[in-house]
Amino acid sequence: MKIKVVKDYEEMSREAALFIEKNVRENPQLTLGLATGGTPLGTYRFLAQGHRERKMDYSRVTTFNLDEYVGLPKNHEHSYHSFMQKHLFSLVPFGRTYIPNGEAADLEEECIAYERLIEKEGPPDIQLLGIGSNGHIGFNEPGASFEGETHVETLAETTRKANARFFPSPEDVPKEAITMGIGSILKSRKILLLASGLRKNEAIRRLLKGEMDESFPASALYHHENVTLIVDEEAYGKGV
Ligand code: F6R
Repeated sequence: MKIKVVKDYEEMSREAALFIEKNVRENPQLTLGLATGGTPLGTYRFLAQGHRERKMDYSRVTTFNLDEYVGLPKNHEHSYHSFMQKHLFSLVPFGRTYIPNGEAADLEEECIAYERLIEKEGPPDIQLLGIGSNGHIGFNEPGASFEGETHVETLAETTRKANARFFPSPEDVPKEAITMGIGSILKSRKILLLASGLRKNEAIRRLLKGEMDESFPASALYHHENVTLIVDEEAYGKGV
């Protein structure tokens, strides 16, 4: 794992955007795995700026999102479809964009179809990841299999509490999500993991211990040979 410690959220976001831009310049037909939540917002802002001001072209890039809440209509203001539309897709035209359908009538079928799509179009050349304070990646909560494919996951209470900040009230946070599995994530060629702020300090400390354990999903990343962690000083703390 390559580790880059940067000053703050802004610097983490700029570095992440530069990493993506460099790879897209080298391969304009790249497949990009995307995340939602607070962590990648700054990265998306810089990507949009690069498109606007430096004519970065994403028109042949295919994107796959990691996850989507179960039961929220796509146009619900808190769905990840809406999130991506608002923070990236309305600002940067991409070739094709895929997000799991959390309101599919048959969720199991949707998971199988999404995994097949990743295999057909991908796997992602770069997978962007945030990390939950409990170590989750995607919505793979503690205990998720390191070999898992796209599936429906019951969200941990800590995750629902952490994400309550995006909803009118904590009860409004959905209880389940479709998520790419850890096995699906590990198929990506490069993984770019971002972490910022004191809230992530404990998770990063545990990650850097290097012990692989299904009770800490992010530790699966030690199975992967090309992971870059960009972490700010607050999240890094004293490190190991
Ligand atoms: C989002 C996702 C999650 C988040 C994680 C951190 O698509 O898959 O794993 O990356 O919950 O969330 P934030 O960035 O809001 O701290």
